[in-house]
Amino acid sequence: TSTFTGVMELSKMGAASVPSSYILPPAYRPNLGTINDPEPHLAPIDMSLFQQPHRRPQILEEIRLACKELGFFQVINHGIPPSVMSGALDAATEFFDLPQEEKLTFASGDVNEPVRYGTSLNQLKDKIHFWRDFIKHYSHPISKWIDAWPSNPQNYKKQMGDYTQAVYMLHKQLVEIVFESLGLGPKYIDEDIEKGSQAMAVNCYPRCPQPDLVLGIPPHSDYGYLTIILQSQQGLEIMDCDNRWCRIPIQKGALVIQIGDQLEIMSNGQYRSPIHRATVNTESNRISIASLHSLALDRRVAPALELVNEQNPPLYRQGSFTEFLDFLSKNDVMERRYLDTLK
Ligand code: SIN
Ligand code: FE2
Repeated sequence: TSTFTGVMELSKMGAASVPSSYILPPAYRPNLGTINDPEPHLAPIDMSLFQQPHRRPQILEEIRLACKELGFFQVINHGIPPSVMSGALDAATEFFDLPQEEKLTFASGDVNEPVRYGTSLNQLKDKIHFWRDFIKHYSHPISKWIDAWPSNPQNYKKQMGDYTQAVYMLHKQLVEIVFESLGLGPKYIDEDIEKGSQAMAVNCYPRCPQPDLVLGIPPHSDYGYLTIILQSQQGLEIMDCDNRWCRIPIQKGALVIQIGDQLEIMSNGQYRSPIHRATVNTESNRISIASLHSLALDRRVAPALELVNEQNPPLYRQGSFTEFLDFLSKNDVMERRYLDTLK
């Protein structure tokens, strides 16, 4: 492993400006003053209403519209206790507060490492650096991976583990709802889910002296089928159909649900895998925890046959996670997106 300095260390030093390797060319800068708020009709979905059968059709319709127009929605009353969510955010905060040497024991540039601490997007490859430190770990089934997770802070395994398992259950419920809303039947990918993976991307975006010049994570879409994001404060932005950046408002107790590339492909483009990015701020460190759900590495993903006919020809050729990783190793995410190569 190569040594590197995480942005947490830079932030702690309290410099008045960011090092030049973080400064984006003007066209890529976040233009923080011009960010839109998302469409007002996008109220969070109250999942407790699913218990009431007569409310179901209306909620399925709300989800269908959100996935079609923006590729994301928020959920409340999703069943994950507030203490479990705050426990995960606290564990992440304490991890990133550890001395750099301690975090570096997990440092690796190899995307196949089951636990990987790093900075930027890929510190070994990035020409421009991003204002983010992260730890990523595989998470399901938890018994297979948890021993490799950090044992410092002491409560990391317990608190992150409780959240990870709760969010896994929630994702299964959400997948059923999303597939039902597509008209494919709730059990459409059940068997494939068992063979798929859950990875937690635990991100820290330290406070930054020049948030207008940098990004925490560059515009990208997530390759898996579904991502569930818990954010400690505002910073996540999604690009809408008119190519405008929309800030995802912080909603107490809510989780952000994002459609991924695999679902856009399966839906034959009916649902969007949104391009999103993270901005940073001068005030405080932001934590986000993204639970990334993907089908197996070698699973070929193609438009669902049920959604393809003469009027709706397939819009994508088959892809796979292995192919995606290969693409990432050879391309600059600022220039090209894997999903676009399948169209
Ligand atoms: C990500 O795209 O994984 C990061 C999202 C965020 O920080 O809100
Ligand atoms: Fe993402």
